[in-house]
Amino acid sequence: MNCANRRYSAFNPGDLWLDNHGEHINAHGGGFLFYNKTYYWFGEHKLSGKDGNKANVGVGVYSSKDLYNWKNEGIALHVSKDTTSKLQKGCIIERPKVIFNNKTNKFVMWFHHELKDQGYKAALTGVAISDNVTGPYEYIDSFRIHAGILPLNISKEDFDTIPDINENLELTKEKRIDQAKKGEIFKRDFMIGQMSRDMTLFVDDDETAYHITASEENQTLLISKLSDDYLTLTNEYVRVFPGGRNEAPAIFKKYDTYFMFSSGLTGWKPNPGKLAVADNIMGNWTFLGNPCRGTQEENETTFWSQSTYIIPVQGKKDAYIFAADRWQPENPIDGRYVWLPVKFENNIPYLEWEKTWDLNFFNKNE
Ligand code: DGJ
Repeated sequence: MNCANRRYSAFNPGDLWLDNHGEHINAHGGGFLFYNKTYYWFGEHKLSGKDGNKANVGVGVYSSKDLYNWKNEGIALHVSKDTTSKLQKGCIIERPKVIFNNKTNKFVMWFHHELKDQGYKAALTGVAISDNVTGPYEYIDSFRIHAGILPLNISKEDFDTIPDINENLELTKEKRIDQAKKGEIFKRDFMIGQMSRDMTLFVDDDETAYHITASEENQTLLISKLSDDYLTLTNEYVRVFPGGRNEAPAIFKKYDTYFMFSSGLTGWKPNPGKLAVADNIMGNWTFLGNPCRGTQEENETTFWSQSTYIIPVQGKKDAYIFAADRWQPENPIDGRYVWLPVKFENNIPYLEWEKTWDLNFFNKNE
């Protein structure tokens, strides 16, 4: 059988996953959108070799009717050849997420953006817009967030008592946690805007959308309400888990409860997964621990992966897929995808390894 004709009827976490051309799917740090009876998978288009994490092409997009078989729809957001553009070739684009705005009929993409040759220093969130789900998306801008604006959960009185950060300290992990807990990193960036790195979006049942991002040197999450057109952040935002060191946030809602999967902070290396729960997306969030149930190694590495999105499966009850990346920093294009069914015990999600599985797994929920 020609690879390009291969039809999948199961998920095989960690294996090569071929698209309609017989090529490994190239959409890392993915975000998913269900639109017009079709799933769309947006992700980082990576290249081979050490520099393959840089955005030399842009954001790729694939489509699927069944979640197993994916058609390459090309590049949704192109990097620019213009060397004066913030989005120029060679910058970093990570974890793109797309949502559809029913009021404006536009598709809106947000992503983590780092400027060319500046490592991860800029810590910006970027936004782009399109009339068509597969693009091309028009880049709008990238920026730090909430400059000069206090979150809903810090009063002016409390803010005024935060000490200035001491940048001369040797920066151990413990120091960073302490600085974040005291609000010192938040205060440092107050006027220039808060950092925004690993991010995701979540659209609630009432169509209000939220931007969730790792801020304050990745020590604290910020959850912000988006404007009605989804193109800007409103001033309504909260700091969540200061000093909690959460990356890779991925949120879903089951009935009236919000769950957030995330990871710890170890670069491209995997680490123990995390799970949190809330009755209101703007908090309070309660940390529930590691959702993985496997061998010690599996639990310590989240099955050798890092969360990127929780995909609600259409037409099936209580059916959610934990979608994660198994990064390959030495050859990024070869990064693999680990998709596992979200299982529940007493209404609390957990994950177990499945070598191969399919959507019939969820039939028992009917
Ligand atoms: C972990 C993040 O989750 C990834 O998206 C990426 O930013 C790497 N860190 C870079 O080391």
